[in-house]
Amino acid sequence: MSDSRALSQLAYDIVRAAENAAIAASGWIGRGEKESADQAAVDALRTAMNAMDMKGRIVIGEGERDEAPMLYIGEEVGTGEGPEIDIALDPLEGTSLTAKGMPNALAVVSLSLRGGLLHAPDTYMDKIAIGPGYPEGVIDLDASPADNVVNLAKAKGVDPSEITVCVLERPRHDYIVDGVKSVGGRVRMIPDGDVAGAMGAAGLGTGVDMYIGRGGAPEGVLAASALRCIGGQMQARLHFRNDDERARATRVGVTDLDKKYDLAELAAEHCLFIATGVTDGDLVTGVTTGEDYVETQTLLLDSADLSIRRITNRRPR
Ligand code: FBP
Repeated sequence: MSDSRALSQLAYDIVRAAENAAIAASGWIGRGEKESADQAAVDALRTAMNAMDMKGRIVIGEGERDEAPMLYIGEEVGTGEGPEIDIALDPLEGTSLTAKGMPNALAVVSLSLRGGLLHAPDTYMDKIAIGPGYPEGVIDLDASPADNVVNLAKAKGVDPSEITVCVLERPRHDYIVDGVKSVGGRVRMIPDGDVAGAMGAAGLGTGVDMYIGRGGAPEGVLAASALRCIGGQMQARLHFRNDDERARATRVGVTDLDKKYDLAELAAEHCLFIATGVTDGDLVTGVTTGEDYVETQTLLLDSADLSIRRITNRRPR
C-alpha cells in the first residue's frame, strides 16, 4: 500500500479519537474551568491515538515537553506499527469558549506523512486566508486590509461592500476593522477560535470571504491543513513578542524568523483534517447527549480527493 493510501486509511480511527476528545471536553461546557476542559480533551485524544496503528509524532501539540506532560511537541504516539505520521493537534480549540458555554469550540487534529506540516512554535502568527476559485496573488499579508478587500472584491466581481472579513475581536485588530470598513466591507467578529475563523473563509457556507489577523501559530498550521483540503489561499508569518519566543522557533527548526509562508509551506499536499464540535458552531454541531446516547458531528477533510465529509455519530453512553 502506498504511504498516501495508508494515511487516508487512518481517517476512521482519527475521527473516533477526535470524537472522544470532544465528548470528554463537553462535560466541562459552561463550568468556567478551561484547564479542566482542555485536560479532559488531551487525555481522551492521547489514549485514542495511542491505540492507532501508526508511528505518530506530535509536531504541533500542547507545548514543549517541560510544560506539557502529554501531547507535547516531539512525543511519539500510536502503536509503533504502520506509517510514519506527523500530527498537529489542538485537543480543545476554544478553551474559553467551552468554559463559557459559547459556540465554535472544536477538537482539532491534522495528520500528514512525515515532514508534511510546518513545525510551528507556540507563538503568534499573522494570517490571511481566502477560499478556492481565485487567481494566485489576490491576497497579500503585507498589503493593507483595505487593499486586500478591494483586490478580493475585484477578483470576485463584486463591490467591496459585499466582502465579509472574519476578525478575532482583539484591540490589536482595530486597524483591520477600520481598514475593512474604510472601503465599505463588512466584519464578522469572533471572540476566539481562529481555526474555524480561517476555515470559514474557505466557502463552507459561513458567508465569510476572508480571514485576517494575528492568532496562535499552531492554529495557523491547523487552518492551513484544512485549506489544503478545501482549496484556497493562505499566507502567514510568525510573530514574536520576545527572545524566548524567538528561541522557541529556533528549537523547532525555524531558521528564517521573518519568513512569509504560503499554504504549500504550511501544510503538505496530502493531509487529513478532522474537527469534532464540542459546542455548536458554524462548521459542525456540538456534542449532544440523550439519556442513553451521545452524539457528535465531525468534519473530515482529506486533501487526497478534496472530500468534505460531515460524520454524525450516535453511540451509547
Ligand atoms: P485556546 O483554545 O487556547 O483558548 O485558543 C483560542 C484562540 O482564540 C485561538 O483560536 C487563537 O489563535 C488564539 O486563541 C488567539 O490568542 P489570544 O487570545 O492571545 O489573542
